[in-house]
Parts: sequence; C-alpha cells; structure tokens
Amino acid sequence: MASYRKLAVLVTNSVEETETAGIALGAILARGDVVLLQGEHGAGMTAFSRGVARGLGVTDRVTSPTFVLVRSYHGTIDLVHADLYRIQEGSYFDLEMLELVPGDAVTLIEWGDRAAGFYEALCPLVVEFLPGPKTDTRVINFEGDDQTWARRLSEAGLRSVELD
Ligand SMILES: Nc1ncnc2c1ncn2[C@@H]1O[C@H](COP(=O)(O)OP(=O)(O)O)[C@@H](O)[C@H]1O
Ligand SMILES: [Mg+2]
Repeated sequence: MASYRKLAVLVTNSVEETETAGIALGAILARGDVVLLQGEHGAGMTAFSRGVARGLGVTDRVTSPTFVLVRSYHGTIDLVHADLYRIQEGSYFDLEMLELVPGDAVTLIEWGDRAAGFYEALCPLVVEFLPGPKTDTRVINFEGDDQTWARRLSEAGLRSVELD
C-alpha cells in the first residue's frame, strides 16, 4: 500500500455506528471517487459500505459482493461496490481492475489493498478497519493524500487527528 497520510481516526462501538460513519462519508463523496476498504473478515467493511450507499442516496439493499466481485447500485450518485477477496494479486484479473472504476460513479472496493497499486493514480481514500478492545469495537483509520482528502473528511465530520 502506498504511504498515505493518516487523516482521521474513528472508534465505533456497534455496527450501527459504523454504518453512520459510512453515511457521513457517502454524503460528501463525488463522482469518480475511489475508496479502498481494508481489514480482516468481519472487520465491518460491508457494514460501512451499507452506510456509504445510503449517504449516496442508494435505496436498494446493499449485500456483500464477495462472491460476485462487483455490484452496481443507482443512487443520487451511483455506486460500484466491489470485493477483491477472491482475487489473487498478480492474477489476470489485475488487467481489468481499472475497469471497475467508472468516472461517473463512486467506487468502493473491499479488500482494496489487494490491488492498491492499480488505484494509486486515482488518489483513493483508504479506510482501514481494525479490531478494538471489545467485541463490538472497531478502530477505523482514514488515510489518503492530504490535499485531496483532509478537507473533505472534516466536511463529513470525520475527526482529524494530530500526528507527529
Ligand atoms: N463496531 C462495529 N462495526 C461494524 N461491524 C460490527 C461492529 N461491532 C460488531 N460488528 C459485527 O461485525 C460484523 C461485520 O461484518 P461485515 O461488515 O460483513 O465485515 P466485512 O465486510 O469487513 O467482512 C457484523 O456481523 C457486525 O454485526
Ligand atoms: Mg465484506
């Protein structure tokens, strides 16, 4: 993964709180944005994606795209929701990775770190989900290019953190 700057960190204590964070992000996303989600199984990527979809005005139910690779949804802004879990790095699928990213939609990619190199030029927001001290706690790190994402994350109410 490229060395993006950590721009915000959020701790959620329930699946609903993670969805709410997704809604806040979805509300400030724009066509052409790419968001890479990173974490282990059960980290909360699909839960967060459900929120992002709502924030984009998607009314259809969002389900995990693990087995289909990619699903598209209509919203105020359309959403492409992909999951690269089944894609091995270096596989022939890599050649088509960029085709997952239409310029007129938001693209949200679970297990996005598997193909991060392909998306670097598109200046993605990287959202990393880590387990917290309790079963229902998740630590969510937002990383990305400072110029592009710092202001937009604060517009979304996603708290900036001071780092050394
Ligand atoms: N704070 C939290 N945020 C997100 N999910 C949580 C949280 N606490 C518990 N969970 C549970 O963890 C699971 C996350 O599942 P999911 O979003 O499908 O993970 P992933 O897509 O990362 O594999 C759900 O069963 C959800 O209820
Ligand atoms: Mg998932």
